[in-house]
Amino acid sequence: MHELLRELRDRAERAADPDSWSYLSRGSGDQRTVGEAHDAWDRYRLRPRVLRDVEDVSTELDLFGHWPSPIGIAPTAFHALLEAGGEVTTATGAAAAGAPMVVSSRATRRLEDIAASLAGPWWFQAYLMRDRSVTAALIERAADAGATAVVLTADTPYVGHRARTAAQARPLPLSDEQALTNMRDHLPAEVDDIWELIDQRADLSLADIGWAARAGGLPVIVKGVLRADDALACVRAGASGIWVSNHGGRQLDRAVSTAAALPEIVAAVGDSVPVVVDGGVRDGYDALTALALGARAVMLGRPVLWALAAGGSEAVGEMLVELTAELRHAMGLAGAACLGDLDRSVVTTG
Ligand code: FNR
Ligand code: LAC
Repeated sequence: MHELLRELRDRAERAADPDSWSYLSRGSGDQRTVGEAHDAWDRYRLRPRVLRDVEDVSTELDLFGHWPSPIGIAPTAFHALLEAGGEVTTATGAAAAGAPMVVSSRATRRLEDIAASLAGPWWFQAYLMRDRSVTAALIERAADAGATAVVLTADTPYVGHRARTAAQARPLPLSDEQALTNMRDHLPAEVDDIWELIDQRADLSLADIGWAARAGGLPVIVKGVLRADDALACVRAGASGIWVSNHGGRQLDRAVSTAAALPEIVAAVGDSVPVVVDGGVRDGYDALTALALGARAVMLGRPVLWALAAGGSEAVGEMLVELTAELRHAMGLAGAACLGDLDRSVVTTG
């Protein structure tokens, strides 16, 4: 793990409310999957090329937008738990670093305000809610506010059972106002249980990829894929991208690591659609490994929240810049002058 991330994590743990800290840190079940995520990247070794001109190394990425870095921000819920400005603060840091940001359906600031801070392309993460009209309205609003892709989260038919101690069995310190920031405008006036309406639907299916694409006229990236056959089925159903993820070990415990799942998925989809990955990425070497295995972009979940809690937008920006600098350095030493120079032959399990 990058030294800066270690430091941010420690500072965040001291700064954050204990219930919020537990919410962001924990995985599901016995926390096997969350615990294995980083080590799984570390099992690969690199096969550098020599005598390549690496005087100038570029990390620029074109993927539903143009970004200086392929290291971006995965969607995570409720940033106001960690910093008063919530996702607007995160977006300010992302914009300063030129990093792609994916905004969660469960954001605590208005999509339009987050988009204004990003001042460029961004992606919107959608959960298919029990009341689909709420999801459709959010996707439409995101498109109007400049989102260039929809990330449809497919691994959460219901929220996984997370490890909790008795002391942590309290509700999160978040007002309904904050939790419902973006949903509020789209809820029916007379409703008994709001939470029921906006809960995830458990009957999400392949047909919903097309539905989500039509809702906003945007390309859909399916998030939470861990198998080649599922990836192919999503592509056939109209997905414009596949996001390899196990939700940071928060859904099915004992699910395979993303580092292990990525190669079979890249091999299956080939050049048909881009593949994105997240899970346990904690330094530039993890990112390099993921990119060499065929991911086009590499996303961070918890490290962004650590930075947000430890030092607001400045720390978020600095963390993203530092990881990109480490990636650039490692690319040069591996003989890659641009992301296109990274291929499967750069990594080995030997
Ligand atoms: C998440 N994740 C997530 N995913 C999603 O699609 N929508 C969401 O609202 C959330 N919320 C969320 C909250 C918190 C606190 C965490 C830690 C994670 C999953 C997230 O996008 C991503 O898949 C993982 O966090 C990546 O793993 P790392 O980087 O946290 O190891
Ligand atoms: C989580 C849900 C909100 O991981 O995605 O907490």
